[in-house]
Amino acid sequence: MEKEPVIIDCDPGSDDALAIILALHSGMVDLRAVCSVTGNGALDTTTRNGCNVLALCGRKDIPLYRGSGAALDQQVPDTVSAFGDDGLGGYADTIQSDKKEEEMDAVEFLVDYIDSHPGEITLFAIGPCTNVAKAIRRSKTFAGNLKRLIIMGGAKYTGNMSPVAEYNFWADPQAAHEVLRAGIRDVTMIGLDVTNRIALNCGMREVLRMIDTPLSNFVYNITREGLDDNWRTRKKAVSPMHDVLTVAYLLDPSILQVKPAYIDVVTEGIAKGQSVVDIDGHWNGGKCNAMYAAEVDVEKFYKLFFETIFHEDVTTLF
Ligand code: RIB
Ligand code: CA
Repeated sequence: MEKEPVIIDCDPGSDDALAIILALHSGMVDLRAVCSVTGNGALDTTTRNGCNVLALCGRKDIPLYRGSGAALDQQVPDTVSAFGDDGLGGYADTIQSDKKEEEMDAVEFLVDYIDSHPGEITLFAIGPCTNVAKAIRRSKTFAGNLKRLIIMGGAKYTGNMSPVAEYNFWADPQAAHEVLRAGIRDVTMIGLDVTNRIALNCGMREVLRMIDTPLSNFVYNITREGLDDNWRTRKKAVSPMHDVLTVAYLLDPSILQVKPAYIDVVTEGIAKGQSVVDIDGHWNGGKCNAMYAAEVDVEKFYKLFFETIFHEDVTTLF
Protein backbone atom coordinates (compact mmCIF):
# COMPACT_ATOMS: atom_id res chain seq x y z
CA MET A 1 0.00 0.00 0.00
CA GLU A 2 1.23 3.48 -0.80
CA LYS A 3 2.05 5.59 2.21
CA GLU A 4 0.03 8.74 2.79
CA PRO A 5 2.20 11.87 2.35
CA VAL A 6 1.70 14.14 5.36
CA ILE A 7 3.09 17.21 7.11
CA ILE A 8 2.58 17.71 10.84
CA ASP A 9 2.28 21.29 12.10
CA CYS A 10 2.58 21.09 15.88
CA ASP A 11 3.71 22.46 19.25
CA PRO A 12 5.44 19.50 20.94
CA GLY A 13 4.15 18.98 23.66
CA SER A 14 3.78 15.43 24.99
CA ASP A 15 0.68 14.59 22.93
CA ASP A 16 2.16 16.15 19.77
CA ALA A 17 5.23 13.97 20.36
CA LEU A 18 2.98 10.91 20.64
CA ALA A 19 1.25 11.85 17.38
CA ILE A 20 4.62 11.99 15.60
CA ILE A 21 5.68 8.69 17.18
CA LEU A 22 2.44 6.98 16.11
CA ALA A 23 2.76 8.29 12.55
CA LEU A 24 6.36 7.09 12.26
CA HIS A 25 5.60 3.63 13.64
CA SER A 26 2.52 3.04 11.51
CA GLY A 27 4.26 2.14 8.27
CA MET A 28 1.34 3.90 6.56
CA VAL A 29 2.53 7.49 6.70
CA ASP A 30 5.17 9.24 4.65
CA LEU A 31 6.05 12.14 6.97
CA ARG A 32 7.51 14.77 4.65
CA ALA A 33 8.15 17.46 7.27
CA VAL A 34 7.30 18.78 10.71
CA CYS A 35 6.58 22.47 11.39
CA SER A 36 6.72 24.05 14.83
CA VAL A 37 4.53 26.69 16.42
CA THR A 38 4.41 28.17 19.90
CA GLY A 39 1.94 26.47 22.24
CA ASN A 40 2.92 23.80 24.72
CA GLY A 41 6.02 25.90 25.24
CA ALA A 42 7.80 28.88 23.73
CA LEU A 43 8.81 28.45 20.08
CA ASP A 44 12.41 27.52 20.96
CA THR A 45 11.07 24.74 23.18
CA THR A 46 8.57 23.28 20.71
CA THR A 47 11.12 23.49 17.87
CA ARG A 48 13.82 21.73 19.89
CA ASN A 49 11.37 19.09 21.12
CA GLY A 50 10.21 18.42 17.55
CA CYS A 51 13.82 17.88 16.38
CA ASN A 52 14.57 15.60 19.33
CA VAL A 53 11.43 13.48 18.90
CA LEU A 54 12.32 12.89 15.24
CA ALA A 55 15.82 11.88 16.34
CA LEU A 56 14.39 9.55 19.01
CA CYS A 57 12.43 7.80 16.26
CA GLY A 58 15.60 7.44 14.19
CA ARG A 59 14.31 9.94 11.61
CA LYS A 60 16.75 12.83 11.68
CA ASP A 61 16.32 12.89 7.90
CA ILE A 62 12.82 14.40 8.22
CA PRO A 63 13.11 18.21 8.04
CA LEU A 64 11.74 20.41 10.79
CA TYR A 65 10.80 24.03 10.03
CA ARG A 66 10.48 26.68 12.75
CA GLY A 67 7.16 28.52 12.57
CA SER A 68 5.33 31.27 14.42
CA GLY A 69 6.23 32.43 17.91
CA ALA A 70 3.09 34.54 18.34
CA ALA A 71 -0.52 34.52 17.22
CA LEU A 72 -1.74 36.49 14.16
CA ASP A 73 -2.46 39.47 16.42
CA GLN A 74 1.19 39.35 17.60
CA GLN A 75 0.17 38.31 21.11
CA VAL A 76 2.16 35.43 22.57
CA PRO A 77 -0.41 33.00 23.94
CA ASP A 78 -0.11 31.52 27.40
CA THR A 79 2.38 28.69 26.97
CA VAL A 80 1.97 27.28 30.46
CA SER A 81 1.33 23.69 29.49
CA ALA A 82 -0.31 20.75 31.20
CA PHE A 83 2.90 18.97 30.18
CA GLY A 84 5.24 21.15 32.25
CA ASP A 85 7.71 23.93 31.43
CA ASP A 86 9.67 21.94 28.84
CA GLY A 87 6.49 20.61 27.17
CA LEU A 88 7.59 17.01 27.75
CA GLY A 89 6.83 16.57 31.43
CA GLY A 90 10.35 17.44 32.58
CA TYR A 91 11.93 14.79 30.31
CA ALA A 92 12.82 16.89 27.24
CA ASP A 93 16.51 16.75 28.11
CA THR A 94 16.51 12.95 28.05
CA ILE A 95 16.26 12.96 24.24
CA GLN A 96 18.78 15.62 23.32
CA SER A 97 20.16 15.19 19.81
CA ASP A 98 22.28 17.02 17.27
CA LYS A 99 19.34 17.31 14.85
CA LYS A 100 18.99 20.88 13.60
CA GLU A 101 15.98 22.73 12.25
CA GLU A 102 16.01 23.87 8.61
CA GLU A 103 16.89 27.46 7.74
CA MET A 104 13.66 28.11 5.85
CA ASP A 105 10.75 29.36 7.92
CA ALA A 106 7.72 27.06 8.31
CA VAL A 107 5.23 29.34 6.56
CA GLU A 108 7.50 29.76 3.54
CA PHE A 109 8.05 26.00 3.48
CA LEU A 110 4.32 25.21 3.71
CA VAL A 111 3.46 27.56 0.85
CA ASP A 112 6.29 26.29 -1.38
CA TYR A 113 5.66 22.63 -0.67
CA ILE A 114 1.87 22.54 -0.85
CA ASP A 115 1.76 24.73 -3.95
CA SER A 116 4.27 22.48 -5.68
CA HIS A 117 2.41 19.28 -4.67
CA PRO A 118 -1.20 20.23 -5.49
CA GLY A 119 -3.81 17.84 -4.11
CA GLU A 120 -1.20 15.49 -2.62
CA ILE A 121 -0.59 16.41 1.01
CA THR A 122 -2.58 15.77 4.17
CA LEU A 123 -1.72 18.46 6.69
CA PHE A 124 -2.16 17.93 10.43
CA ALA A 125 -2.65 21.09 12.49
CA ILE A 126 -2.25 19.95 16.10
CA GLY A 127 -1.11 23.21 17.65
CA PRO A 128 -2.47 26.75 17.28
CA CYS A 129 -3.41 27.31 13.59
CA THR A 130 -1.10 30.34 13.09
CA ASN A 131 1.31 28.84 10.52
CA VAL A 132 -1.55 27.47 8.42
CA ALA A 133 -3.46 30.78 8.50
CA LYS A 134 -0.32 32.68 7.48
CA ALA A 135 0.22 30.28 4.57
CA ILE A 136 -3.38 30.88 3.48
CA ARG A 137 -2.85 34.66 3.68
CA ARG A 138 0.41 34.43 1.73
CA SER A 139 -0.71 32.21 -1.14
CA LYS A 140 -4.02 32.38 -2.99
CA THR A 141 -3.60 28.79 -4.12
CA PHE A 142 -2.47 27.17 -0.85
CA ALA A 143 -5.94 26.31 0.54
CA GLY A 144 -7.08 24.80 -2.76
CA ASN A 145 -3.89 22.80 -3.14
CA LEU A 146 -4.21 20.99 0.20
CA LYS A 147 -5.54 17.47 -0.16
CA ARG A 148 -6.83 17.39 3.37
CA LEU A 149 -6.53 19.18 6.71
CA ILE A 150 -6.97 17.36 10.02
CA ILE A 151 -7.16 19.70 13.00
CA MET A 152 -6.94 18.99 16.71
CA GLY A 153 -8.82 21.91 18.11
CA GLY A 154 -12.12 23.19 19.35
CA ALA A 155 -15.11 21.23 20.60
CA LYS A 156 -18.86 21.39 20.29
CA TYR A 157 -19.68 21.05 23.95
CA THR A 158 -16.71 21.90 26.16
CA GLY A 159 -13.47 23.83 26.69
CA ASN A 160 -10.18 23.55 28.55
CA MET A 161 -9.11 27.21 28.65
CA SER A 162 -12.56 28.59 29.39
CA PRO A 163 -15.96 26.93 29.69
CA VAL A 164 -16.20 27.08 25.89
CA ALA A 165 -12.70 27.36 24.40
CA GLU A 166 -10.14 24.67 23.64
CA TYR A 167 -6.42 25.64 23.84
CA ASN A 168 -5.36 25.53 20.16
CA PHE A 169 -8.29 27.69 19.05
CA TRP A 170 -8.08 29.89 22.15
CA ALA A 171 -4.35 30.55 21.54
CA ASP A 172 -5.02 31.99 18.07
CA PRO A 173 -8.76 32.27 17.42
CA GLN A 174 -8.33 34.53 14.39
CA ALA A 175 -6.11 31.90 12.76
CA ALA A 176 -8.61 29.10 13.42
CA HIS A 177 -11.42 31.31 12.08
CA GLU A 178 -9.51 32.07 8.86
CA VAL A 179 -8.45 28.46 8.33
CA LEU A 180 -12.02 27.18 8.65
CA ARG A 181 -13.24 29.83 6.19
CA ALA A 182 -10.50 29.28 3.63
CA GLY A 183 -12.42 26.85 1.45
CA ILE A 184 -10.15 23.85 2.02
CA ARG A 185 -11.89 20.90 0.40
CA ASP A 186 -11.56 18.30 3.16
CA VAL A 187 -11.29 19.51 6.75
CA THR A 188 -11.88 17.43 9.88
CA MET A 189 -12.05 19.09 13.28
CA ILE A 190 -11.17 16.62 16.03
CA GLY A 191 -11.94 18.39 19.28
CA LEU A 192 -12.16 17.84 23.00
CA ASP A 193 -15.54 16.07 22.68
CA VAL A 194 -13.61 13.03 21.51
CA THR A 195 -9.98 13.67 22.49
CA ASN A 196 -10.86 13.94 26.19
CA ARG A 197 -11.98 10.32 25.98
CA ILE A 198 -8.70 8.78 24.83
CA ALA A 199 -6.52 9.73 27.81
CA LEU A 200 -4.08 7.10 29.11
CA ASN A 201 -5.15 5.48 32.34
CA CYS A 202 -2.78 4.36 35.10
CA GLY A 203 -2.95 0.68 34.12
CA MET A 204 -1.87 1.49 30.59
CA ARG A 205 1.00 3.61 31.88
CA GLU A 206 2.12 0.68 34.04
CA VAL A 207 2.17 -1.51 30.93
CA LEU A 208 4.48 1.06 29.33
CA ARG A 209 6.80 0.82 32.34
CA MET A 210 6.82 -2.95 32.11
CA ILE A 211 7.51 -3.01 28.38
CA ASP A 212 10.71 -1.24 29.46
CA THR A 213 12.21 -0.11 26.17
CA PRO A 214 13.75 3.35 25.66
CA LEU A 215 10.60 4.40 23.75
CA SER A 216 8.06 2.99 26.24
CA ASN A 217 9.99 4.54 29.13
CA PHE A 218 10.01 7.88 27.30
CA VAL A 219 6.24 7.72 26.74
CA TYR A 220 5.73 6.69 30.37
CA ASN A 221 7.80 9.65 31.53
CA ILE A 222 6.30 12.34 29.29
CA THR A 223 2.75 11.37 30.26
CA ARG A 224 3.42 11.71 34.01
CA GLU A 225 3.02 15.50 34.27
CA GLY A 226 -0.28 15.39 32.33
CA LEU A 227 -1.55 12.79 34.78
CA ASP A 228 -0.53 14.88 37.79
CA ASP A 229 -2.03 18.02 36.28
CA ASN A 230 -5.32 16.27 35.54
CA TRP A 231 -5.45 14.96 39.09
CA ARG A 232 -4.60 18.37 40.60
CA THR A 233 -7.12 20.27 38.50
CA ARG A 234 -9.92 17.75 37.83
CA LYS A 235 -9.35 14.79 40.17
CA LYS A 236 -9.02 12.56 37.09
CA ALA A 237 -6.22 9.98 37.10
CA VAL A 238 -5.61 9.95 33.34
CA SER A 239 -3.04 11.59 31.09
CA PRO A 240 -4.25 13.55 28.03
CA MET A 241 -3.29 12.39 24.53
CA HIS A 242 -5.47 14.74 22.43
CA ASP A 243 -3.30 15.09 19.31
CA VAL A 244 -2.71 11.37 18.86
CA LEU A 245 -6.31 10.89 17.79
CA THR A 246 -5.72 12.86 14.58
CA VAL A 247 -3.10 10.40 13.36
CA ALA A 248 -5.09 7.41 14.62
CA TYR A 249 -8.04 8.66 12.54
CA LEU A 250 -5.91 8.77 9.40
CA LEU A 251 -4.72 5.22 10.08
CA ASP A 252 -8.21 3.89 10.81
CA PRO A 253 -11.12 6.20 9.92
CA SER A 254 -13.59 3.85 11.65
CA ILE A 255 -12.21 5.09 15.01
CA LEU A 256 -14.30 8.26 14.70
CA GLN A 257 -17.86 8.99 13.77
CA VAL A 258 -17.77 12.30 11.89
CA LYS A 259 -20.62 14.54 10.82
CA PRO A 260 -20.72 17.33 8.23
CA ALA A 261 -20.94 20.74 9.90
CA TYR A 262 -20.48 24.44 9.44
CA ILE A 263 -17.85 25.46 11.98
CA ASP A 264 -16.71 28.95 12.91
CA VAL A 265 -14.58 30.29 15.73
CA VAL A 266 -15.36 33.23 18.00
CA THR A 267 -12.46 35.71 17.82
CA GLU A 268 -13.18 38.04 20.74
CA GLY A 269 -15.14 38.56 23.93
CA ILE A 270 -16.18 36.19 26.64
CA ALA A 271 -16.40 33.24 24.23
CA LYS A 272 -13.02 33.94 22.53
CA GLY A 273 -11.71 30.73 20.97
CA GLN A 274 -15.04 28.89 21.06
CA SER A 275 -15.78 26.74 18.04
CA VAL A 276 -19.45 26.98 17.17
CA VAL A 277 -20.45 23.77 15.42
CA ASP A 278 -23.64 23.81 13.36
CA ILE A 279 -24.72 20.34 12.32
CA ASP A 280 -28.34 21.37 11.65
CA GLY A 281 -27.89 23.70 8.67
CA HIS A 282 -28.73 26.96 10.46
CA TRP A 283 -25.85 28.89 8.87
CA ASN A 284 -24.26 29.39 5.49
CA GLY A 285 -27.37 28.27 3.65
CA GLY A 286 -26.86 24.78 5.08
CA LYS A 287 -23.47 24.42 3.33
CA CYS A 288 -20.82 22.72 5.45
CA ASN A 289 -17.13 23.64 5.64
CA ALA A 290 -15.79 20.72 7.70
CA MET A 291 -16.40 17.38 9.30
CA TYR A 292 -16.90 17.38 13.05
CA ALA A 293 -15.77 14.38 15.15
CA ALA A 294 -18.78 13.46 17.24
CA GLU A 295 -17.95 10.00 18.66
CA VAL A 296 -14.85 7.89 19.22
CA ASP A 297 -14.44 4.15 19.49
CA VAL A 298 -12.18 4.28 22.53
CA GLU A 299 -11.26 0.59 22.60
CA LYS A 300 -10.32 0.58 18.94
CA PHE A 301 -8.12 3.62 19.54
CA TYR A 302 -6.19 2.10 22.46
CA LYS A 303 -5.73 -1.15 20.56
CA LEU A 304 -4.35 0.69 17.55
CA PHE A 305 -2.08 2.91 19.64
CA PHE A 306 -0.49 0.11 21.67
CA GLU A 307 -0.27 -2.45 18.89
CA THR A 308 1.21 -0.01 16.38
CA ILE A 309 3.90 1.44 18.63
CA PHE A 310 4.59 -1.30 21.17
CA HIS A 311 3.14 -4.47 19.61
CA GLU A 312 1.19 -5.09 22.84
CA ASP A 313 -2.44 -6.04 23.31
CA VAL A 314 -3.88 -3.99 26.17
CA THR A 315 -7.49 -5.04 25.62
CA THR A 316 -7.78 -6.35 29.17
CA LEU A 317 -7.13 -2.89 30.61
CA PHE A 318 -10.17 -1.14 29.13
O1 RIB B 1 -6.34 21.33 23.92
C1 RIB B 1 -5.50 20.31 23.52
C2 RIB B 1 -4.38 20.84 22.65
O2 RIB B 1 -3.64 21.79 23.39
C3 RIB B 1 -3.41 19.79 22.19
O3 RIB B 1 -2.96 20.09 20.89
C4 RIB B 1 -2.30 19.85 23.21
O4 RIB B 1 -1.03 19.63 22.64
C5 RIB B 1 -2.47 21.20 23.91
O5 RIB B 1 -1.47 22.08 23.72
CA1 CA C 1 -0.60 20.19 20.36
